[in-house]
Amino acid sequence: MTSDVATIRPVERADLLAVVRIERACFDDPWPYDAFERLLDAPAFLVAERGEAVCGYVVADVTPNAGRDIGHIKDLAVRPDARGRGLGRRLLRAGLTRLCAHGAAVAKLEVREGNAVARSLYASEGFEPIRRARRYYRDGEDALVLAVDLGTWASDSAVDKA
Ligand SMILES: CC(C)(COP(=O)(O)OP(=O)(O)OC[C@H]1O[C@@H](n2cnc3c(N)ncnc32)[C@H](O)[C@@H]1OP(=O)(O)O)[C@@H](O)C(=O)NCCC(=O)NCCS
Repeated sequence: MTSDVATIRPVERADLLAVVRIERACFDDPWPYDAFERLLDAPAFLVAERGEAVCGYVVADVTPNAGRDIGHIKDLAVRPDARGRGLGRRLLRAGLTRLCAHGAAVAKLEVREGNAVARSLYASEGFEPIRRARRYYRDGEDALVLAVDLGTWASDSAVDKA
C-alpha cells in the first residue's frame, strides 16, 4: 500500500532524473541535470518522496558573510499533481531549518514578480522584499529579492508548531 504522507529526506544521486523531470514540468527555463549534480553536497538539497516517487525538492546553500552568513534558497518545486497539500511549505521549512543548522543568519531568494503562489508562500513564512532585480529572467521578467531573518523565523515557527 502506498502512503499518502510524504517523507522529506536528503537527495541522493539516484533522485536526480526525477528532480530534473519535475523541474521541466515547473519552469520555462529549467535548470539542467548538471546544475543539480553540482549541488548534491549543498547544505540543503532535500526531496519530498511519497510512495517511493520524488514529488518535490528544495535546494539551498550558504555563503559566508563576515559573521552573518547568508542562506540562499536556490530552487523549490512541487510536482503539479502534488500541489496544494502543504508540501511546498514543508520543503521550504525543512530547507530553512537546514540553513539555520549550517549557521545562516538570513535567508534570501529570488522570485518572479508574477509568481503569486510562491510569493504568498514566502510572505507567510516571513520573507519580505528587499529589492527588485530588473529583467532577472531570460524572458525579461523582473525578480523580487526576498529575505527573512532566520532567528526570527525559527522562533516564530517554533511558536507555530507549539
Ligand atoms: C510554489 C510551490 C512550491 C508551492 O507548493 P505547494 O505544495 O502547492 O504549496 P503548499 O500546499 O504548501 O501551500 C503553501 C502556500 O502557497 C500558497 N498557495 C498554494 N497554492 C496556491 C494557489 N493555488 N493560489 C494561491 N496561493 C497558493 C498559499 O500561501 C499556501 O499557504 P496556505 O495553504 O496556508 O494558503 C508550487 O506551486 C510550485 O512548485 N510552483 C512551481 C515552481 C515555483 O514557482 N517555485 C518557486 C520558485 S521561486
